[in-house]
Amino acid sequence: MKTVRSERRGAVALLTLDRPDALNALNRALLERLEALLAELREDPSVRAVVVTGEGRAFAAGADIAEMQDFTPAEGEAFSRLGHRVFGALEELAVPTIAAVNGFALGGGCELAAACDWIYASEKARFGQPEVNLGILPGFGGTSRLARRVGVAWAKELVLTGAPITADEALRIGLANRVFEADSLLDGALAVAATIAEKGPLAVAQAKRLLHEGQDADARVAHVMEQSAFGLAFASEDRKEGMAAFLEKRDPKFEGR
Ligand code: COA
Repeated sequence: MKTVRSERRGAVALLTLDRPDALNALNRALLERLEALLAELREDPSVRAVVVTGEGRAFAAGADIAEMQDFTPAEGEAFSRLGHRVFGALEELAVPTIAAVNGFALGGGCELAAACDWIYASEKARFGQPEVNLGILPGFGGTSRLARRVGVAWAKELVLTGAPITADEALRIGLANRVFEADSLLDGALAVAATIAEKGPLAVAQAKRLLHEGQDADARVAHVMEQSAFGLAFASEDRKEGMAAFLEKRDPKFEGR
């Protein structure tokens, strides 16, 4: 059964949700495959950035409604826990992750995009949390992670109305960082990911971690965490190489050491 494809583009891993006939709806098989792929990427030091996108006209049109139709409450909770586990693993990857949202990012699709470090949207993208139309509510981070991303008032409007927003609206509320013409979205996302892949990977990973963990930390604790990480960076070979290359007017060659 087709679920998710993983390809390499140099040091960048490209994950493509691949159930286009169902608008890449997230079923258990897809989530479990995504989890397995993320576990592989986590152990592969040659991967320096990840791009997540969707095949066809959707990024993902949400959790699979056909599969959920007969869920008991216990199955519903287990499904939500599965989604949280997988999206949590995505969020916790040491390397940067970019969602290239090519079309519908609804429900779990919007939550998947929001679990990436940032979002680039095609002009054709549509974002939303339409669960209330089905008599359910977001189960993969829409009431928690999304609120941290766009602020609680916008999260409330999206979740409580169920109404979708355009790519430009997503840009305006800070859900998407940039909007691309449809044809240039994937290349644009891959190009940015490739740029990241050339930077010092230890520094990139530490900075990502601080930006992430610092959000939920008291400001003073976040400042101390930054000071420690800044100091630690001076222990790396990459730091020596980066500064030497600058002073010698050449490009650095980082080894991740
Ligand atoms: N779960 C399961 N199947 C889904 C799905 C989902 N979340 N979203 C779309 N599909 C399937 C449709 O059932 C249809 O299958 P079919 O061809 O076998 O009938 C196929 O994907 C194409 O969708 P369709 O509705 O025909 O496309 P459209 O262009 O008319 O509408 C959407 C697109 C996204 C507006 C519409 O599919 C939709 O509202 N999807 C559900 C969104 C949602 O509520 N997500 C949250 C779930 S918790």
